[in-house]
Amino acid sequence: MSRIVVMDLRVHNTVLAGHERYFLLVGADRRSHLVRDWCPHRGGPLSLARLTPDGRRLSCPWHGTKVGVAAVRRTGVPMVRSGDEAIVLLPDTPEDVPVTLVHKRILANLPPEADEPHDDVPALPCGEPAAEPCEEAR
Ligand code: FES
Repeated sequence: MSRIVVMDLRVHNTVLAGHERYFLLVGADRRSHLVRDWCPHRGGPLSLARLTPDGRRLSCPWHGTKVGVAAVRRTGVPMVRSGDEAIVLLPDTPEDVPVTLVHKRILANLPPEADEPHDDVPALPCGEPAAEPCEEAR
């Protein structure tokens, strides 16, 4: 079952739906996509990934896997945007699953040369700091 959510993009850029996370990825062309906040390697937070210098891939903060922006966009859920409002269709989200709209800092939308610290990147599942490769990933 799907759910329809209305986002005010002036105050919301992230959707938490049960165990799923989605964030608003804004491309260089200024087009927005609500995409899964999930790295295909081991589920790291792609919203905290940084663009590579060529702007074509996101480098995951957990182990550095580079994921194509086009591939991430393809994880986008159906969304119709009108001005600052977006109507979003969340797939496989039953009515009893809690849905929360929030605003978070999204590093993936910064230009590659932006200087932002990674101090709020959550720790890896193995407990190692995010800047160091996880033992399980070596
Ligand atoms: S979870 Fe993203 S590189 Fe490992």
